[in-house]
Amino acid sequence: MILAIDGPAGAGKSTVAKLVAKELGLTFLDTGAMYRGVTLEVLRLELDPADAEACARVAASLKLEFDAQGKLHLDGRPGEPAIRSSSVTRAVSQVSAHAAVRAIVVAQQQRIAATSRGVVAEGRDTTTVVFPRAEHKFFLTASSHERARRRALELGTPQALEHIRAEIEERDRKDSTRAVSPLVKAADAHEIITDGMSAEDVARALLAIVAGKRA
Ligand code: DC
Repeated sequence: MILAIDGPAGAGKSTVAKLVAKELGLTFLDTGAMYRGVTLEVLRLELDPADAEACARVAASLKLEFDAQGKLHLDGRPGEPAIRSSSVTRAVSQVSAHAAVRAIVVAQQQRIAATSRGVVAEGRDTTTVVFPRAEHKFFLTASSHERARRRALELGTPQALEHIRAEIEERDRKDSTRAVSPLVKAADAHEIITDGMSAEDVARALLAIVAGKRA
């Protein structure tokens, strides 16, 4: 079974996807982590994130693997926490906008799903491009204020709320307006607006829809 969840940065997709995957006994697939992994390596090699060919070469040569906890490893080295650094967060929209990078990373995501019992995938194009035939599709969103508030809380920097909000809105704009696989809500996805809901509330709502569809 494939359950795909898309939505903008900070909508809580990954926390919810992890909870749902655990409940259903499926593999959690964090597709954004893979673009972050490629970006980390591009920066480590001091390549230009705007250079599509260089980024694609990195994507093709880098071994991206998830461990049993769903954490990414790059050529056998742990990707966390470096893939979440602000330098990676700033460059990842540029690296992930290259069609050649996406072709390589999407093929790997499809291979992971094909070799597991089922996945709960989350990202920007999992409902539209990676798994267009997923049994269950969701679009999670929240106001940029709410998403910034959660991120600031996570980072322990409530004073940086406005700065975080500006960064989130800029990433939304880049991810939604790029030419290749922009973030859009699939016509057949259930939209859940998560303002005022906890991750557990959202996971329960998703699971109820999944159970209802199966019944
Ligand atoms: O979900 P995240 O913030 O870790 O994702 C990081 C970036 O990767 C995001 O800004 C856009 C890109 N991304 C993508 O283009 N397609 C996906 N399926 C997932 C993430």
